[in-house]
Amino acid sequence: MDEYGNSGEGRATRRDEAVRAAVEQGLLGPDSPIVGLLDVTGIRESAAELRAAFAEVTTPGTPVLHAFAVKATPLVPVLRLLREEGIGAEVASPGELALARAAGLSPAETVLDSPAKTPAELREALALGIAVNADNPQELDRIDGLVRSAVSRSPLGIRVNPQVGGGSIGATSTATATSKFGVALRDEGAREWVVRAYLDRPWLSRLHAHTGSQGIPLPLMAQGVAETYALAEEINRRIGRPQIDTIDIGGGLPVNFTSDATAPTYAEYARALREAVPGLFDGRYGLVTEFGRSLLAKHGTIVARVEYAKSAGGRAVAVTHAGVQVATRTVYVPGSWPLRITAYDGKGRPKSGPEVVQDVAGPACFAGDLLAEGRALPLLDQGDYAAALDTGAYYFAHHYAYNSLARPGIYGFVPDPARGVRFATVRDPQTLASIVAESGGAHAGALTTLHAPGSR
Ligand SMILES: Cc1ncc(COP(=O)(O)O)c(C=O)c1O
Repeated sequence: MDEYGNSGEGRATRRDEAVRAAVEQGLLGPDSPIVGLLDVTGIRESAAELRAAFAEVTTPGTPVLHAFAVKATPLVPVLRLLREEGIGAEVASPGELALARAAGLSPAETVLDSPAKTPAELREALALGIAVNADNPQELDRIDGLVRSAVSRSPLGIRVNPQVGGGSIGATSTATATSKFGVALRDEGAREWVVRAYLDRPWLSRLHAHTGSQGIPLPLMAQGVAETYALAEEINRRIGRPQIDTIDIGGGLPVNFTSDATAPTYAEYARALREAVPGLFDGRYGLVTEFGRSLLAKHGTIVARVEYAKSAGGRAVAVTHAGVQVATRTVYVPGSWPLRITAYDGKGRPKSGPEVVQDVAGPACFAGDLLAEGRALPLLDQGDYAAALDTGAYYFAHHYAYNSLARPGIYGFVPDPARGVRFATVRDPQTLASIVAESGGAHAGALTTLHAPGSR
């Protein structure tokens, strides 16, 4: 139970009702055997909790932009919903920027952070007035050229890597000694280079670090922010004025994948930061945050029909329609990304009964395509449904096209007094025509027109 009284019970009840309603209303069934569901109430609650947490620790009047890391859930309706809740967008590619713009986010609500920006992308961002954090000296050179050639309203900064170390998942640890992100601050000469970069460029007004995501303990995250703050203080002291006026502390709050409770909470993190870095909150610095997973993960559920229930070598195996295409990290790296699975019957009602150790398999043609291996659950039968929980970030919105499996439809839901649950389409299921088109359908004969000299 967190301090909002949020043990996740409301969340679990809403989810159960949505699964049943999805079956009743025909979103899920034999001919649409997999969907992604998004709990709109939960998303709004998390956005409000984020804003309240930082409002509590910042001096009144401090500018704070919470920029949702679009990579976590790159869906236009989600970005629009978050915008309505006062949340901007952190984008890391031209595609993500296009999504943010399609959702109606203004340049002032948008931050561009990608590690490999082309000159054209930088030019566009500066022309629009979008905040940019330069990842490295070569990128700063490009920005120098653009700043010389045109006036821009973009707030500009440098991304640093405080190299405070990694967490339990290597792939999401961004502050290791050899991480590809930002200027590696502890490398020889790097700190002095960063200070000089600001001394030489009065228009550099921001400093950015994102010290890691899932698997990073809070104290390590706080240390990353503390080191970034200390650098900003040093730069401003050396320059003799508060040239850096905004610190972007990145995202990365870990998510609890073991129960419905939110843990840690934004309030806990914000307080831990104020404790570790009080000067960051005294009103001298504006703040940008870039939370992704923690805003959306717990509000998404993948529900998949059990096509066949079988047994192999004494192990029960439920063959479902959710596997590597929607849960890529879990399938390939199950030790780091285990997901909770719940069982529903053919009418979408929570299944009870004795637990049986079973595999919940996906539809892809390789043996490792398992959502869960050896999991104790009420025995899944043919026509039942298996739900993969906490999949609102970095899961069903991140389709992997193995076996040309179609992207599932995604539906947002709210409780509704008249119908029980009301759904809205977030993304239509992918059609076969779209799969063919994306797979070179318009160029079917292209390769047969090519002949090496002398080959015919
Ligand atoms: C620069 C940056 N900001 C924010 C995030 C979001 O992290 P998370 O989803 O863990 O909050 C990432 C993710 O890797 C990132 O690279």
